Amino acid sequence: MGKNKIIISLDLGTDKTTVLVGDFDDTGELNIIGFGESKTEGIEKGLIVKPNNVIQSIKKAISDAETTSGVSISSAIVNISNSHIEFENVTEFLTYGTNQKEIDDVDISTLIEKISEKLQQDQYKIIHIIPKRFILDDVDEVIDPRGFLASKIQGEFHVVLSKINTYSNLKKVVENSGISVIDFVYNPVASATSVLYPEEKEMGTLLIDIGGGTTDIAILKDGSFEFTKTIPLGGSRITLDIAHRFRIPKSEAEELKITYGMAISDAVAEDQVIEITPIGSEEKIQISQYELVDTIEARLDEILNLVKKEVEQSGFIDKLNGGVVLTGGVANTPYIKELAYDIFNMDVRIGKPKGYIGFSDKLNNPKYSTSIGMMLFKKDSSLSKKMSPINEPKNDILSIFKSFIEKIKQTF
Ligand SMILES: Nc1ncnc2c1ncn2[C@@H]1O[C@H](COP(=O)(O)OP(=O)(O)OP(=O)(O)O)[C@@H](O)[C@H]1O
Ligand SMILES: [Mg+2]
Repeated sequence: MGKNKIIISLDLGTDKTTVLVGDFDDTGELNIIGFGESKTEGIEKGLIVKPNNVIQSIKKAISDAETTSGVSISSAIVNISNSHIEFENVTEFLTYGTNQKEIDDVDISTLIEKISEKLQQDQYKIIHIIPKRFILDDVDEVIDPRGFLASKIQGEFHVVLSKINTYSNLKKVVENSGISVIDFVYNPVASATSVLYPEEKEMGTLLIDIGGGTTDIAILKDGSFEFTKTIPLGGSRITLDIAHRFRIPKSEAEELKITYGMAISDAVAEDQVIEITPIGSEEKIQISQYELVDTIEARLDEILNLVKKEVEQSGFIDKLNGGVVLTGGVANTPYIKELAYDIFNMDVRIGKPKGYIGFSDKLNNPKYSTSIGMMLFKKDSSLSKKMSPINEPKNDILSIFKSFIEKIKQTF
């Protein structure tokens, strides 16, 4: 096992902190050789509210991953997701006068640097500049422009930006837990990478990852990202609704949700009676499963309608021939597929992460789409260089481009 093939992902979720140790074999297949997890304390809606608690959660998950893998962990790729993250689809071009020129890596780097300079603002940090396509001499659309002759190259990119303060806080907390950050990956980008099939990415598909504190959305069409966004609502809010409505502790509400929960109240066939003990009371009272499911349905309905509104505003609602793919822990809710179908009126499937082997008993669950996706997104660049920290924005962006080009090479 060559050390340079080892890749670590740290998925700092609102509900759980997961650390995976991955190893790429000679064919480039991702083999998960270590798994560590802890309950996250100190994150709400994707934002750090209690840094010291978060550090403890990271340390525990790292330590478990070290034990299961036998690998000593000092750096990782880390997820980022909160409602302050924004995207921009940007076009930039270079011209070479009347002469034609053979396009090479330098031209692409110049294009990416131009975008980086154009979008760099004091209050924002660029997380991703993901190439979508290139147009040569205003006519030929290509995915990999290198080697072609052209007097003008135009590139289209999906750029993801984070507010600098939330970015810096996250980086600092991870570093204070003893881990240096190799790169950040935005949740919707990661989840879409591990869950969607190439055909779905082409046809136009809406990916919805509903986690504990955030709902991450990605729209992919013609093979690339068109839209990414995070809504600060998820399964924790459903648990809180249950706790409030029935006046029970959050831990009990979570248990009821998992045991008796569904997404559609009409799906409750034989209404069961559930016994609960409200806070401050010594006596048990009875509630019906219908009431519980009704509470869950109301919040899920709100979340999915918020997503629908975003998609309508994006102009892509009529272009989703690949339908909707639901993932994240909340996608485990029985009948959520049916609820989403009623709201979106298009095909819906539940997506789990794919593209890896090892620990599949555990990882074959929608809640690990981000963790696996982070690794797959970074896969090619991690294969080509040692896992040393790369914090320079320029290198950051170039490595993503290299990864993109590697992927293209593998496709043909
Ligand atoms: N079987 C299930 N039925 C309903 N909800 C479930 C089920 N399993 C998990 N969940 C919910 O999924 C949520 C956790 O999902 P996930 O692990 O994807 O979140 P996370 O990655 O920690 O958070 P985030 O990405 O939002 O920061 C919790 O609210 C949990 O209650
Ligand atoms: Mg998550």
